[in-house]
Amino acid sequence: MLADIGLVGLGVMGGNLALNMAEKGFTVAVHSLDWDAVTTFVAEAGDLGQRLIPARTMAEFVGRIRAPRSVILLVPAGAVDVVMRQLGAALSRGDSVIDAGNSDYHETERRQREMAQFGVTVLGVGISGGHEGARNGPSIMAGGPVQAYRMVEPVLTAVSAKFEGEACCAWLGPGGAGHFVKTIHNGIEYADIQMIAEIYGVMRDGLGLTAPEMAKVFEDWNRGRLNSYLIEITARVLATIDEATTRPLVDLIVDRAEQKGTGRWAVIEAQRLGVSAETLEAAVGARVLSSLGQQRSAAEKLYAIPRGRWKAPKEAAIPVLEQALFAGKIMAYAQGFAVMAHASEENVWNLPLGTIASIWRAGCIIRSQFLDIITDTFRMDEATLNLLLAPRFIAMMSENHQGLRETVAEAARAGLPVPALSAALAAFDGYRQARGTANLIQGLRDYFGSHSFERSDRVGAQHGPWNR
Ligand code: 6PG
Repeated sequence: MLADIGLVGLGVMGGNLALNMAEKGFTVAVHSLDWDAVTTFVAEAGDLGQRLIPARTMAEFVGRIRAPRSVILLVPAGAVDVVMRQLGAALSRGDSVIDAGNSDYHETERRQREMAQFGVTVLGVGISGGHEGARNGPSIMAGGPVQAYRMVEPVLTAVSAKFEGEACCAWLGPGGAGHFVKTIHNGIEYADIQMIAEIYGVMRDGLGLTAPEMAKVFEDWNRGRLNSYLIEITARVLATIDEATTRPLVDLIVDRAEQKGTGRWAVIEAQRLGVSAETLEAAVGARVLSSLGQQRSAAEKLYAIPRGRWKAPKEAAIPVLEQALFAGKIMAYAQGFAVMAHASEENVWNLPLGTIASIWRAGCIIRSQFLDIITDTFRMDEATLNLLLAPRFIAMMSENHQGLRETVAEAARAGLPVPALSAALAAFDGYRQARGTANLIQGLRDYFGSHSFERSDRVGAQHGPWNR
């Protein structure tokens, strides 16, 4: 029996994806550097093991897959090139490799060029949803040669999450488009998580709420327009009690956020494209700041500035914080989609922004009710330039910016850091201001460097004269 598809890498993501594919009726050849791990995995797969073909060597693995072959790669980031080269040597012309890990899209495009010498195509496919998603239905963002995608489309569609029956899986463009979109997904994920953490900080330090009390607030918000996976799991994390100490587990976790780099890539890409993505940038910056634990402890003692209390009582403050989180979310998504729109133009990818929003509605980490609104907005073709110019967004932002404003102002007064929410507010206020302050910047640039400026009442480049 020959397998429908191959999979290299049986870590938590690879293993779960293999089981998901087997469950959907596909036969999967599986291979990993660790042969014991392969045999154990197949033995423990129960009935699904019948659709898994273990292969000890790369040559055996390739020989067990029906040609033209599609091979999914889910190996640690550092191992992608090594395994890809082995596959290049073992596969035949017309076969394809699907890199389903979090790869930088520039690397994906380099690998596409390198593997072309073997006649092997490379698809860069972003998979979101963690290990549960891999097992039960992730969101799948594919990019690369479309013919290679068509070969593997039935498998990817079958294993993906479904939103009201629609598969959360799509080919989004050539080259590294799939991995690029996954990168922006992660940048937005960082912003979403950061803003939730900021609101948590306000509730904890400004309002004096306990973790179980906050869990109830988030649970309640999850029944409204903030309904999303991240709000749902925030409530669960806050409600978890540590058995050993009977204290909320979250209170015992060290406040140092780690990162594998995808959020940072999103921000680097935004900067490179010249698109403002301050909300995402602030989220990455906040993770970096969180890592300076010792300095923060020292600085707290050295400055010894007492923390202000939140002026409003908690009953009045909570709806305001909900508005702030919603408005911040609008800004993060408007910025993330703007980055994708620019990248699409620069790379001539023709990214289908509405489809991207639609395949993020289920399966992925940032899945939410809000993404359904974004999907509708793009489907009504309302948002060619920026989501903030779409009627639905104008209405939502007009209704909620006040809550964001009050939260940021009150947090500043109380000395509570809300960097992503502040960045979102500043970006909003800057965006809706016809006359900003860059006229002075231009004046200064011309003064010290003769860089020239434009005048509103004349045509062409202008200079001083300045009072020196
Ligand atoms: C997903 C996630 C996932 C990512 C983790 C951790 O969509 O399933 O984005 O791919 O690896 O969220 O990312 P950090 O370690 O950078 O926080």
